[in-house]
Amino acid sequence: MSLPEPRNPSGPYRICVVCLGNICRSPMAEKILLTDLARAGLADRVQVDSAGTGNWHVGADMDRRAASTLRKYGYPTGHVARQFSPSWFPERDLILAMDTDNLADLVRLAPDEETKDRIRLFRSFAPGVGPNPEVPDPYYGGEDGFITVLTMIEAASKGLVGELTALFSAR
Ligand code: 4NP
Repeated sequence: MSLPEPRNPSGPYRICVVCLGNICRSPMAEKILLTDLARAGLADRVQVDSAGTGNWHVGADMDRRAASTLRKYGYPTGHVARQFSPSWFPERDLILAMDTDNLADLVRLAPDEETKDRIRLFRSFAPGVGPNPEVPDPYYGGEDGFITVLTMIEAASKGLVGELTALFSAR
């Protein structure tokens, strides 16, 4: 499935990455994607932010295990958790869910079919994954789960940056 067209062709492409709590997976994906976009020379053309479908951690830092894993692999970690608001839909070109529960919650909030088509699974951009590829919730597991999550996010981020590069070179 190709990337949704930008709502505003003269502005930056706007991506929101969404998980449940916005303290583990989606902040990790935001930092990794921003790093890859900067390396690809697309920092000015693509904006990335993140949010949770839940509100329990609003205002909190990233989970310390998420932050230490990112730091270990050379990524930044500054973060303040937020809850996704349906009012953001008109201001985003692509909304990327980490798992199928997050996807279903976002689709339920979406006002119309055009918006629903902009909601995808983040990991669907990784090469060689099957149908409905998820980034599993690492919150109740051990440190190892965070390395698994980082590895999955890195693969999907590279695939997504490839698609964004193609989108911009076609314009
Ligand atoms: P995240 O992980 O969705 O990747 O940020 C979670 C963080 C907190 C909770 C669940 C998942 N929680 O239940 O508090």
